[in-house]
Amino acid sequence: MRAVVFTDPGEPLRVEELTLAAPKAGEVRVKLVGAGVCHSDLHVFKGDWQHKTPLVLGHEGAGVVTQVGPGVTRPCVGDHVILSWIPACGECRFCVSGKPQLCQTAMEAIGTDAMFDGTTRLARADGTPVYHYLSTAAFAEETVVPATGAITIRNDAPLEKVSIVGCAVATGFGAVVNTAKMEWGSTVAVIGCGAVGLSAIQGARLCAATKIIAVDIVAAKLEAAKAFGATDVVNSVSDDPVAAVRELSGGGVDYVFECIGLAETCEQATAMLGFGGTTVVVGQPKAGTRPGYDALLLSCYEQRVIGSNYGSMRPSVDFPRLVDLYMSGRLMIDELITGHRPLGEAQEAFEDLLAGRAIRTVLDCGR
Ligand SMILES: NC(=O)c1ccc[n+]([C@@H]2O[C@H](COP(=O)([O-])OP(=O)(O)OC[C@H]3O[C@@H](n4cnc5c(N)ncnc54)[C@H](O)[C@@H]3O)[C@@H](O)[C@H]2O)c1
Ligand SMILES: [Zn+2]
Ligand SMILES: [Zn+2]
Repeated sequence: MRAVVFTDPGEPLRVEELTLAAPKAGEVRVKLVGAGVCHSDLHVFKGDWQHKTPLVLGHEGAGVVTQVGPGVTRPCVGDHVILSWIPACGECRFCVSGKPQLCQTAMEAIGTDAMFDGTTRLARADGTPVYHYLSTAAFAEETVVPATGAITIRNDAPLEKVSIVGCAVATGFGAVVNTAKMEWGSTVAVIGCGAVGLSAIQGARLCAATKIIAVDIVAAKLEAAKAFGATDVVNSVSDDPVAAVRELSGGGVDYVFECIGLAETCEQATAMLGFGGTTVVVGQPKAGTRPGYDALLLSCYEQRVIGSNYGSMRPSVDFPRLVDLYMSGRLMIDELITGHRPLGEAQEAFEDLLAGRAIRTVLDCGR
């Protein structure tokens, strides 16, 4: 089967013919339909984060289960699934306390770019193991994932569209509703209007934020932000974003969602807060990034800085709900997808993302 293989930062991505072994105990095989190209894939490509290679990238995908390993009772063959890059174990203290996004077993597994037993199902023809990015490896015709990393959804949803629920939509929407538990009537700024940031804007709109200020450096992203629910937009190229947000909100906002992953924008986020405000760090920077903040002001004004992993999602509960919201016309997903490309154009999709030309490109896994 064909898959997009990453070898070294900056080396062009290549489609290779790989072998995919049958799922072992607790695993399932999925025939993929669509896979979104997220900035987290791009971070690996740029060399921001270290991963084992050769590596099949992609962690935001959807498809149909074609085979289940021993002991798997859910999902079943034929189920339509969205992949989750936190294949929660259901047993650790985080899982049992309703925080599967921090599952210890899943965190360890995704850190090894392999299955729970530390081995890969992917290999080159000569037997060289090929690693699974975040235990997901979605830039491929097919993949094998832990069974809890394949979340069953209704079978009438278009898989090539809802594929991006598996990271962008879950992460941005979830940061607002799950991590921040934003109170309605709040004022919000979102820095970075890629698919993650636009999903945060959409979450804030659906939860009745009264002011949603979108900040970006690309005019087209700010136009998109208005369509997703931004009440105001700030272009950081022409305006000082901190001064603009403080003025537009009458002294600072209740929540800032940083959806880029830069020290500079994390610092801007905290400087945009009003009294009692919260910065939610959603963007994931290059390893070792250390933004600064004024600790005295944080204490005097009771401000907080918190992180959000995977929108604090409980995928088995939240993914079907997000799909229902989409199917009833209340969650915008189609508008996040600016193009579809075959697997062989993953490189071009990365270039579009880097240049700010694309919001989400979905790779059609069957082409
Ligand atoms: N926390 C999580 O669990 C999680 C999950 C998925 C993605 N992420 C991270 O979220 C971030 C965003 O992902 P994405 O796929 O939406 O990326 P993206 O590249 O599509 O979006 C980033 C946006 O930021 C804008 N931008 C860049 N520099 C800017 C600046 N200085 N000021 C204002 N805007 C600026 C870009 O124009 C772009 O619109 C990435 O770091 C990604 O790794 C985190
Ligand atoms: Zn767990
Ligand atoms: Zn992602």
